[in-house]
Amino acid sequence: MIQIPKGCKDVLPAQAHEWQYIEDVARKTAASYAFKEIRTPVFEHTELFSRGVGDTTDIVNKEMYTFLDKGGRSVTLRPEGTAGVARAFIEHGLMGGVLPFKSYYLISAFRYERPQAGRLREFHQFGCELYGAAGAEADAEVISLADAFLKNLGLKKVELRINSIGCKHCRARYHEALKAYFTPHLAEMCEDCKARFAKNPMRMLDCKVEGCKKIAAGAPRMLDYLCEDCTAHFERVKALLTSAGVTFTVDPSIVRGLDYYSRTVFEFVSDAAGAQGTVLGGGRYDTLLEQMDSKPVPAAGFAAGMERLLLVMAAEGCLPKEEGGVSVYLAGMDAASREKSFLLAGQLRAQGISCETDLMERSVKAQFKYADKTGARYIIVLGERELQEGEVEVKDLRGGTAERVKLEEIVTYFKNKEE
Ligand code: HAM
Repeated sequence: MIQIPKGCKDVLPAQAHEWQYIEDVARKTAASYAFKEIRTPVFEHTELFSRGVGDTTDIVNKEMYTFLDKGGRSVTLRPEGTAGVARAFIEHGLMGGVLPFKSYYLISAFRYERPQAGRLREFHQFGCELYGAAGAEADAEVISLADAFLKNLGLKKVELRINSIGCKHCRARYHEALKAYFTPHLAEMCEDCKARFAKNPMRMLDCKVEGCKKIAAGAPRMLDYLCEDCTAHFERVKALLTSAGVTFTVDPSIVRGLDYYSRTVFEFVSDAAGAQGTVLGGGRYDTLLEQMDSKPVPAAGFAAGMERLLLVMAAEGCLPKEEGGVSVYLAGMDAASREKSFLLAGQLRAQGISCETDLMERSVKAQFKYADKTGARYIIVLGERELQEGEVEVKDLRGGTAERVKLEEIVTYFKNKEE
């Protein structure tokens, strides 16, 4: 039997309401901050990610789904959403439009990783990107949007950690300090770290190899090397978050796994998601657009992993319950009443009332069982007598009551109930 590819998951109808709930909360929270949806392609030219996400990252070096299309072009399934949004922003000349540009997306993304709980090869993100604002208010706005989103989902035990990784000026000095620190340890470190040492020593702080991790734990911290402007920016972000009531801790070990960040970086973590503790991550990225041949545009954003959110929500007991089934179940007894049920169902549906009839030629008793199992609210049995009398009994399965209603008044009867 052909099975689902490794690291992918089906969402079956019984779980769909959980996804819809998160998406709904995401859309509403984004809208309350005046962010609008953007949709970009699932695949892009490979170069977008190698340049954007960074060619020293694990994502670009090891995890991309890259292939040649039939025209011989190298394309890649997006490993994240930021690079595509930045491309679209530049390509459509949106920097000439209304700024700040505020967008959000709900997407699937693809990384060839070793699957485990909360780590998939196809996963889903809710992300927000804000362009054009250089001040700390923009960082505080995206962080407080992320915070509001998690709170609106009912999560209480997710913690916010923030850090600053400086700008290209102060980072040059930091890179020298890192190199000085790592030089005597280099021989014991993995091959990847040796390559990172030359190209981007900060990536060595993010290595997943145990031996390298131990060495990296003693490395100098970027926070001690921030220039005056970056220090002032970070202080302002912290002050704004504090006055907005967003609780955080400063964690100097956060470097993030993508190359485009500058200044503020942040992660929302939970120990309920198992080893994959980061449910949401983001930061400021003022040089990405420039790297993509645009004029410089300051930017900040984040993305949350939907599968990890589901794990954390399950652990915190805030997953929504499935809503009831259809409003009205019409049970037919014979050919004529089944036909009438079918007709009535069409009229109810045309008024937006959800409605079902039997499609399996079941007995009335079996139809009752089905309506009960699927959570129908009302049931109406139609037989020879009802057709003759032109009147039916509407049973309220939740309230346990029943009312007699004329057949020609059924639609109005349910319309009134809806209001
Ligand atoms: P990221 O930290 O690579 O950042 O991913 C963001 C979130 O996506 C993670 O915190 C995690 O919840 C989820 N995620 C990542 N990889 C996987 C996976 N293999 N399986 C399941 N969930 C995963 C970004 O993607 C940046 N684009 C965020 C951003 C937006 N920064 C600025 N704007």
